[in-house]
Amino acid sequence: MLLDGKLVSTKILEKIKDKVNKLEKKPHLAVVLVGNDAASQIYVRNKKKTAESLGIKSTVIELSEDTSEDVVLENIKKLNNDEDVSGILVQMPLPKHINKEKIICAIDPKKDVDCFTPENVGKLAIGMKPYFYPVTPQGVLLLLDYYKVPIEGKHAVVIGRSNIVGKPMAQMLLQRNATVTICHSKTENLEDIIKAADIIISAAGKKVVRCKMVKNKAVFVDVGISRDTNGKLTGDLNWELDFNNFDEVVSYFGRVSPVPGGVGPMTIASLMLNTIRTIESNECLELL
Ligand code: GUN
Repeated sequence: MLLDGKLVSTKILEKIKDKVNKLEKKPHLAVVLVGNDAASQIYVRNKKKTAESLGIKSTVIELSEDTSEDVVLENIKKLNNDEDVSGILVQMPLPKHINKEKIICAIDPKKDVDCFTPENVGKLAIGMKPYFYPVTPQGVLLLLDYYKVPIEGKHAVVIGRSNIVGKPMAQMLLQRNATVTICHSKTENLEDIIKAADIIISAAGKKVVRCKMVKNKAVFVDVGISRDTNGKLTGDLNWELDFNNFDEVVSYFGRVSPVPGGVGPMTIASLMLNTIRTIESNECLELL
């Protein structure tokens, strides 16, 4: 069966829109974009467009590729001190001459809608409530919860160990009482580990999984985004090796998310949820 991220994200965004309508003070998301990364420019445009369609204020601060680290830090300081700005997001990746850690540490944890700062990441790791949960893992869990996929006690395999997806995904699954294995580019016997999984969250950015590696009726969440040789958007699942069309894939798995239309839209909805939480901290729970 399908994990339809487009459908679920639309439902969440409708609820957020209603909520924003009722708020006297509107949330205000500031996005800092440094450089010319083409994918980042598209992501940032989508975030701004979605925010505005919900009545959320958004400001994009675009800085050129050769901006110095100090100038980026000054901009963040200004946003930290701006009482009208309730959420700050620094789009990754940053140009190579900028120290990513320094930038992340400069963000006010109370405005850190990405859950990038050490305070929020640390809280997540020790089971305290961070100010915000990381957007992509939160989006994945919202999708699994919508379809009532059981997590407790299940063997969840996370492919990828990035700070943005893999590591926080594993933490959040652990918090939900899954048995969690993290795999990465140096993992030996990846196929055996995948075969043992009830739930696979794949965030490799490469076509590393084929359907027949996965236990029949397991759940597969595809976080990967890359382009195939024809320039078409594709996920981590190399399903064309085993099936002729995606409908066959959908009936092979217990649940499977498509690319596009799976985790992508959920990530944006999850960011909008965090942006509301910059104003009303308990809102997240009510909306789940
Ligand atoms: N680049 C890719 N994914 C993300 C994300 O979730 N947040 C930010 N800030 N940058 C990203």
